[in-house]
Formats: sequence, structure tokens, C-alpha cells
Amino acid sequence: MRCATRVWRTAAIVAAVFIGLNFSATLAVAQQPSPTDPNANAVHEQQLLQEFGRVHGLGSIPDVRSYTIEQPMGRTWRAFHEVWLHWIGAIAVLGMIALLAVFYLVRGRVKLESGRSGVSITRFSGYERFVHWMTATCFIILALSGLNITFGKEVLLPLIGADAFSTWSRAAKYAHNFLSFPFTLGIILIFLMWLRGNIPNRVDIEWIKRGGGIVGHDHPPAYRFNAGQKAVFWMVVLAGTAIAVSGYLLIFPFYVTAIFGMQIAQMAHSVIAVLFVAAILAHIYIGTIGMEGAFEAMGEGSVDLNWAKEHHSLWLEEESASIANTTSPPPTYQHRQGTT
Ligand code: HEM
Repeated sequence: MRCATRVWRTAAIVAAVFIGLNFSATLAVAQQPSPTDPNANAVHEQQLLQEFGRVHGLGSIPDVRSYTIEQPMGRTWRAFHEVWLHWIGAIAVLGMIALLAVFYLVRGRVKLESGRSGVSITRFSGYERFVHWMTATCFIILALSGLNITFGKEVLLPLIGADAFSTWSRAAKYAHNFLSFPFTLGIILIFLMWLRGNIPNRVDIEWIKRGGGIVGHDHPPAYRFNAGQKAVFWMVVLAGTAIAVSGYLLIFPFYVTAIFGMQIAQMAHSVIAVLFVAAILAHIYIGTIGMEGAFEAMGEGSVDLNWAKEHHSLWLEEESASIANTTSPPPTYQHRQGTT
């Protein structure tokens, strides 16, 4: 009897110890961080996002900011990048091309109405043309390589295939990063060299009222730069500065701003970029097929005297006066070969 009682007592002690151990083990497990359970996380993802504002993962690189898997604005930003930006870009760029085509069909080319005089006058120095073409070349490559980031996957990839697309995209990405530096320099030099001629004045109001001679066949007076050119100058300086600042925030991520600022920088950069491209398309149009005699100004550095009379009469007067005041032979006038 005594033996049976001892056996029961021992069994009860063993059971109590076992239950106690099990309980503390369960507690310990409950207190430890739970092991990764992708399904459970997926279920609570939205709740986590709401409670903590962010969902973090694990990583092996030193920059812990890269461990952020989700953050509040992430989905909004993705919708912007994958959908809205495509609409804004397509409407701006294709819309401008369509507008220019219609304008050309309705208005036609702005002709040199008094014909060529055969005498040309220097309009831009070698230095000015160098700065213009350097900035323009960088702009075109930046625009094409940037638009590739936005539209390449949908437009180019199906046409040229994955291998060619990845080779081109890698080269385009290097070009985009490195050409940003001469482009920025170009914007600064353009600002410094043409600021004086681009301060708005009263003549600009008259020029705008008379449609600039582009709408209609009028020839309103203008100094070296008319109101339309001044608008292009300020647009290039302001949009160029904004695109450079936002671009450098993207090239050197997280140095200046956190994830929210990065998203704003990316959105600003890409929207300014597509609007900038659309505006420069209009500038290219008027400098080439839109106006007879205009390309020579930046191509050769000189324009026909009659072109200067029709489009920049006040500038021509200023130039003529300064030539008349110099004793040396006028360096700015030359007779064109093959013309009288
Ligand atoms: C200083 C000048 C510039 C800098 C530093 C710069 C930098 C950058 C960077 C770092 C990116 C992100 C690339 C990536 O996601 O891998 C980018 C994207 C882009 N850039 Fe620029 N960029 C500059 C000028 C321009 C110009 C002049 C244009 C066009 C006129 C342009 C158009 C674009 C476009 C369209 C994107 C793609 C936006 C997107 O879909 O995410 N960029 N740029």
C-alpha cells in the first residue's frame, strides 16, 4: 500500500515538473520573435503598414534603408510611375507633335518675305554656338535615355528583344548619369551668357499682342531676343535647374532626403522631363522647318540681313549703330558666296 502511494506521489511530481517545463517553454517561444511566416505576414501586411507605417525585411548590405519592403506611399508612387506618368508623357509629347503638324499644315513655313539680300550679319559667336550645341546634344541623349526608362519596356522591348534591350538600356543609363554633368554646365553657361538679352521689356508686350509674326504675317520689332525666345530661355533655365536638382537627388539617393522626398524628386523629375521634351520640340520646329533662315543663326553663326530686318529690327539697328561707331572695318557683315 505504502509502495503504491510512493509510486503515485513520484508520478504526480514528474507530471507537475513536466507540465511546468512545458509551460515555461511555451512562454519562452511566445516571447521570442516569431519565425518568418510569409503567409501570416501577407495576411497582416495591411495592418502592419497601418500600425508601423512601414514593413521591413532583412538584408545583408550595410545600408539598412534598403530593408524597407513597403511604405505608405509605395503603391501611390507605383501607380504614378506605371500608369499616370505614361499618360502625362504620351499626351505631352505626342500632343505637341500633332499640334506642330497641324500648325505647319495650316500656317505653313514663316517665309523670308523680302527675299535674301546676300549680305549676312553675325548673330552668334563660336563660343555661344558651342555652348548651345553641347547642351542640346546632352539634352537629346538625356531625353532619349530617360524616356527609355519610362516607355522602353512597353515600346522598345517587344520590338528589339530582351538581349538588345538590356544592352541598350545599360548604355543609356550610363549616358543618362554621366551626361547630366555637361548638361548642368550648359544650363549655367546659357544663363550667364544670354541673361542680359532675355530680361523682359515693353517691346515684348507689343510683340505678343501682334502674334510674334508667327501667327499671321506681321513683323513686330524685337531686340536680340523676342518674347518667344525669352520664354524659351526662362523655361530652359528654370526647368533645367529643376531637372538637374531632382536628378542629382536620384543619382545620389538618400543623401539629402528620405524615401518620401525621393518619391517626390522622381515624380518632379519625370513630369518636368516630359513637359520639357514637348516644349523643346516646339523650339526645334521653329528653328528648322518652321521658319526660313532661322537655322543658319545657330548652324553657321550668321543670318541674312533681311532676316534680321524682318525678325529682329531693333537688334539690327543696335548692331548697325555700333558698327558705324567703330573705325575698323565692320567684322559682323559678310557677303555670302554665290549671292550678290
Ligand atoms: C542634370 C541632369 C539630369 C540628371 C542628374 C538626371 C538623373 C536621372 C536619374 C538618376 C534618373 C533615374 C534613373 C533610374 O531610375 O535608373 C532619371 C530618370 C529620368 N530622366 Fe533624368 N537626369 C537629368 C536630366 C534629364 C533630362 C534633361 C531629361 C529629359 C529632358 C531627363 C529625363 C528623364 C526621364 C524621362 C527619366 C525617367 C523617369 C522614370 O520613368 O522614372 N533627365 N534621371
